[in-house]
Amino acid sequence: MPMQFFFERRIQTLFPVVLSSLILLGTARLVLDSLKINQSHILRLYDRSDGGRNRLPVIVLPEDRIEETCNVFEGEWVWDNVSYPLYQEESCPYLVKQTTCQKNGRPDSYYKNWRWQPHGCKLPRFDPLKVLDMLRDKRMMFIGDSLQRGQFESMVCLVQSVIPEGKKSLQRIPPMKIFRAEEFNASIEYYWAPFIVESISDHATNHTVHKRMVKLDSIANHGKHWQGVDILVFESYVWWMYKPLINATYGSPDNVQKYNVTAAYRLALETWKDWLESNIKPQTQKVFFMSMSPTHLWSWEWKPGSDENCFNESYPIQGPYWGTGSNLEIMKILHDVLGELKISVTLMNITQLSEYRKDAHTSVYGERKGKLLTKEQRANPKSFADCIHWCLPGVPDAWNEILYAYLLKNYQNFS
Ligand SMILES: *[C@@H]1O[C@H](CO)[C@@H](O)[C@H](O)[C@H]1NC(C)=O
Ligand SMILES: *[C@@H]1O[C@H](CO)[C@@H](O)[C@H](O)[C@H]1NC(C)=O
Ligand SMILES: *[C@@H]1O[C@H](CO)[C@@H](O)[C@H](O)[C@H]1NC(C)=O
Ligand SMILES: *[C@@H]1O[C@H](CO)[C@@H](O)[C@H](O)[C@H]1NC(C)=O
Ligand SMILES: *[C@@H]1O[C@H](CO)[C@@H](O)[C@H](O)[C@H]1NC(C)=O
Ligand SMILES: *[C@@H]1O[C@H](CO)[C@@H](O)[C@H](O)[C@H]1NC(C)=O
Ligand SMILES: *[C@@H]1O[C@H](CO)[C@@H](O)[C@H](O)[C@H]1NC(C)=O
Ligand SMILES: *[C@@H]1O[C@H](CO)[C@@H](O)[C@H](O)[C@H]1NC(C)=O
Repeated sequence: MPMQFFFERRIQTLFPVVLSSLILLGTARLVLDSLKINQSHILRLYDRSDGGRNRLPVIVLPEDRIEETCNVFEGEWVWDNVSYPLYQEESCPYLVKQTTCQKNGRPDSYYKNWRWQPHGCKLPRFDPLKVLDMLRDKRMMFIGDSLQRGQFESMVCLVQSVIPEGKKSLQRIPPMKIFRAEEFNASIEYYWAPFIVESISDHATNHTVHKRMVKLDSIANHGKHWQGVDILVFESYVWWMYKPLINATYGSPDNVQKYNVTAAYRLALETWKDWLESNIKPQTQKVFFMSMSPTHLWSWEWKPGSDENCFNESYPIQGPYWGTGSNLEIMKILHDVLGELKISVTLMNITQLSEYRKDAHTSVYGERKGKLLTKEQRANPKSFADCIHWCLPGVPDAWNEILYAYLLKNYQNFS
């Protein structure tokens, strides 16, 4: 099917419905769970007598290191209900209700029990204490849209269980969220910037995908908040894809023009590239870019003849699959711009591995405009299923396991 047709017919009819759940993102309250984790086992691990300051340095074991030759993004999802999920939904008090699918009534839970297994090697077992040790006196920041916020929350949930109450906090300073591990002087942060470059959608809560105007050559207002951050993880895709043309400025701030999305995306990434080249010190800062998170809006793409979406899908796709929602032209642009960069940026090419996971979206067990779906909306998955965002625990945990493997790999290069 030609891309243009795909855009016109599908994006205009389906994207607005699901994307409107992005509109009031920032108003999504933190669900402060009354459930407290049982920490007796943690206190044994976590030496508080010296405030955690004099712990031995991170020991990177041989099995923690992924081999140079292993492509960790190629592999398969393996059923593993013994080790997965890596944390429980109800024991992580920092999840927003957009991601807590079980609590929101999702009847099946198989989606939590799959482990990503690369073909050529084993991913190191995620060790929250090692992450915190690597982040000691450092900041890690996830920058992007609500999908990136999901990855941020996943990372927070993956590490927070080893930190006792009172020694961790989550602060909201729009457009940021900051998780702090006090005794490590470490922070894991999130920065809302759905286009990476500046746009009229940068307000943390008052934004809508229906009105887009991107300032393709402006990044400084965001960039000043990214300066000096030790580990930066960028992502930007789905907001671009709402319609094939986008209003944007380039050069003169008053001259708003319609741009082809692919052309605009390239210009925005070039602006980002220039910012990195003049602001990043590669010796002390690490930069990652997440490739597009796939959507599962049209079941006919994996189940020919059907006319549904990700709703009621309980198993990953077996075998080769790539949905039309993951635009290859955008992928090419990413490839080009990363290739031109004078500093090294690690591409986290998670698109293919996530493509298999039609089962792992929030579907009708997420929220829309900051509210859980009503019973009536749930009964109408064709209009209301969210096949963009992911349940947590879930797929973003695997992205973070891979990120963890890269951090370990680079660890000796850190100052
Ligand atoms: C916490 O775990 C310990 C040992 O694992 C157990 O003895 C204790 O009853 C648990 N406490 C709660 C509140 O579950
Ligand atoms: C784990 O999966 C196996 C195989 O599907 C099943 O037999 C077993 O009951 C499951 N265990 C739990 C704890 O769910
Ligand atoms: C705490 O971490 C910040 C960076 O996140 C650093 O600038 C500061 O020096 C650290 N404080 C101490 C006491 O090491
Ligand atoms: C949201 O932003 C628009 C302009 O971008 C403004 O007109 C409107 O008053 C704002 N709404 C709130 C509730 O702040
Ligand atoms: C661009 O902006 C104009 C004026 O605000 C608006 O009428 C038009 O619908 C927008 N076009 C696109 C492609 O968003
Ligand atoms: C958008 O640009 C791409 C190449 O950059 C081109 O293939 C495509 O036809 C353009 N689409 C429109 C609507 O101009
Ligand atoms: C979900 O799928 C199962 C078969 O996989 C089917 O039996 C069931 O009726 C479906 N549920 C709904 C609500 O469509
Ligand atoms: C990411 O991986 C896919 C295959 O999984 C490949 O087609 C694509 O070119 C890769 N992207 C980049 C930017 O290298």
